[in-house]
Amino acid sequence: MLALLAGLFLYVRSPWNTAQAQPIDQPVEFDHRHHVGDDGIDCIYCHTGAETSPHAGVPGTDVCMGCHGQIWSNSPLLENVRRSYFANQPLPWNRVHALADFAYFDHAVHVRRGLGCSACHGRVDQMARVEKVAPLTMQWCLDCHRAFEANPLTIPARATDGYEALQSALYEVNVTDELLRAGAVSSLTTCTACHR
Ligand code: HEC
Ligand code: HEC
Ligand code: HEC
Ligand code: HEC
Ligand code: HEC
Repeated sequence: MLALLAGLFLYVRSPWNTAQAQPIDQPVEFDHRHHVGDDGIDCIYCHTGAETSPHAGVPGTDVCMGCHGQIWSNSPLLENVRRSYFANQPLPWNRVHALADFAYFDHAVHVRRGLGCSACHGRVDQMARVEKVAPLTMQWCLDCHRAFEANPLTIPARATDGYEALQSALYEVNVTDELLRAGAVSSLTTCTACHR
């Protein structure tokens, strides 16, 4: 019995349960390392909703064809991209991050607060295939929210680590003390903030 409980405890805590670090097959071998690292394309160029809406969004193949109509336009690796574009059918990308419907998350709220993508997604610019680095459990959300409530100034400071410093000014910490204090949200740990 004890062993069973211990096993369950480990199961709950292990990345297996939260599908962390599990590479996911995709219809096209899209590589963030080339596009972000080598070519220096901004995250927002493709994930246009991240600073203005709840959903970051995944780009349509018209965005890909903006470049791949000209470069690597005969590459077999881009066959599915061309097919999708000319048939006007979105690529069936598989989701890497997906919360249950009963949990509400808003990208714009977090990104505008100065939290960079890497705070929650890790170094996507170094990933051949996107992996989930954070568990995305309720506990994970609450840990950060509690720390933020206790000291609103600690959280955005974390966004200065990693590649954000190299990204556009948007990701540099441009949040002032005044702004943080004025807009401090007191409901970050109430159930209805995330379960609406
Ligand atoms: C701003 C230009 C640009 C956009 C937009 C773009 N790419 Fe690329 N892509 C490149 C460049 C440049 C390369 C060459 C790879 C390198 O940097 O080594 C490349 C390489 C690739 C390759 C490898 C091709 C090969 O034969 O090795 C794939 C697959 C790919 N891109 C998929 C996509 C998809 C899918 C999208 C849309 C979501 C996209 N790209 C959007 C510029 C772009
Ligand atoms: C050229 C377009 C392009 C750029 C630039 C780009 N991405 Fe992506 N991103 C994609 C595409 C296409 C997918 C879907 C396929 C996949 O998961 O690899 C994706 C998937 C993702 C996912 C996983 C989505 C899911 O299903 O949960 C995350 C997280 C992500 N990108 C973050 C970033 C971050 C952070 C940056 C900047 C460092 C960035 N992306 C730059 C095109 C892009
Ligand atoms: C505070 C944590 C956090 C930050 C910061 C964050 N994300 Fe996310 N991201 C998430 C969560 C949680 C999900 C899953 C959302 C869902 O399923 O409703 C997600 C999902 C995504 C997806 C999948 C498609 C979608 O719209 O849900 C993409 C793409 C993505 N994020 C890109 C980005 C980019 C690019 C940035 C930086 C501009 C960023 N994220 C910043 C937590 C974050
Ligand atoms: C790394 C820190 C961090 C993580 C992780 C995080 N958040 Fe947040 N969250 C914040 C900050 C900072 C704010 C903005 C507080 C403010 O504006 O005063 C915020 C605000 C929110 C709000 C808006 C609250 C309101 O009343 O307006 C919701 C909803 C929310 N987060 C949901 C989530 C969910 C769901 C998750 C997990 C999937 C999550 N957050 C993960 C830092 C985080
Ligand atoms: C900061 C956001 C946030 C707050 C605040 C929050 N939750 Fe959650 N909750 C989540 C997320 C995220 C999940 C996991 C969703 C998933 O599995 O995709 C979750 C999951 C749950 C579950 C399903 C079981 C589980 O643990 O996965 C229950 C029940 C729940 N929450 C109840 C509550 C109650 C009751 C409160 C208030 C005391 C609360 N939540 C406050 C974000 C939040």
